Amino acid sequence: MSDAILSIAGLSKTYASGFSALKNVDLQIQRGEIFALLGPNGAGKTTLISIVCGIVNASTGKVTVDGHDIAADYRAARSLIGLVPQELTTDAFETVWNTASFSRGLFGKPANPAHIEKVLRDLSLWDKKDNQIRTLSGGMKRRLLIAKALAHEPQLLFLDEPTAGVDVTLRQEMWALVRALRDTGVTVILTTHYIDEAEEMADRIGVISKGEIILVENKVELMRKLGKKQLTLQLAQPLQQVPDALAVLPLALSANGGELTYTYDAKHEHSGIADLLQALDAEGIAFKDLKTSQSSLEDIFVSLVREKEQ
Ligand SMILES: Nc1ncnc2c1ncn2[C@@H]1O[C@H](COP(=O)(O)OP(=O)(O)OP(=O)(O)O)[C@@H](O)[C@H]1O
Ligand SMILES: [Mg+2]
Repeated sequence: MSDAILSIAGLSKTYASGFSALKNVDLQIQRGEIFALLGPNGAGKTTLISIVCGIVNASTGKVTVDGHDIAADYRAARSLIGLVPQELTTDAFETVWNTASFSRGLFGKPANPAHIEKVLRDLSLWDKKDNQIRTLSGGMKRRLLIAKALAHEPQLLFLDEPTAGVDVTLRQEMWALVRALRDTGVTVILTTHYIDEAEEMADRIGVISKGEIILVENKVELMRKLGKKQLTLQLAQPLQQVPDALAVLPLALSANGGELTYTYDAKHEHSGIADLLQALDAEGIAFKDLKTSQSSLEDIFVSLVREKEQ
């Protein structure tokens, strides 16, 4: 791909324990996109981020950030990256203002109080700027980690489970903030267990399982390709079982026989619904109501990871 800000090739990590946490990962992140990395606990998400950020050494492979090799050209590569880590690690007695300002200095950027003020205001931390970190709430600490990561104006922002343990309002504020950052040209890579977060935020989605990237796809395309639609009929009279004449169709009974669900491919033009309704009519099965629904990213994700585990 032409305009990748992050390029990962043949990346593997075997920890000293002998555990193989990443297996030959290839990944290209486009400039300006929001990329969500989904995967179960222990899949290797934090390991991947930690390697790109120089916290963990790779066993094999090559990573470049805007063309800078993270091994050969570490400082240049790292100064382009902002990292919001999964674990909260801050100095409890330091103030909000100092924490953000020092972080900027760490990357060799000249002081810029106006920028720090903007970041703290954007994260609703301005009125807490003189507070010690130990006096902040959990959600405020999380926002401070984001402020810290943004203090040196990174091009590429990693958010490792940014909204774990965050309330609904704050989550939506964070999503809005991430979108605003993207609008200023920042590339965002986030990991999450919340599928709705990926569904809401991401342009592209990568799924990692047991150290392997098992899928990378445009979100809309992913949901179109793998999505299933369901038609659920509320029956006038409950059925004990699906009649033999209908057994060839993808039908399932639920709600004690009161609901009949027909599953079909969202991408097929011919849904088969007309045929189904005719067949029901022929069998004398009447219904009171009907609804259609589309499978969520969660359904898709669960089935992908399950396939991988088998
Ligand atoms: N320092 C280490 N030494 C040995 N094994 C490790 C080390 N760090 C991580 N691992 C193992 O590597 C695997 C991947 O861990 P990682 O933290 O990357 O997963 P994750 O996808 O971020 O999970 P989670 O969703 O729980 O945060 C896990 O099995 C973990 O136990
Ligand atoms: Mg993790």
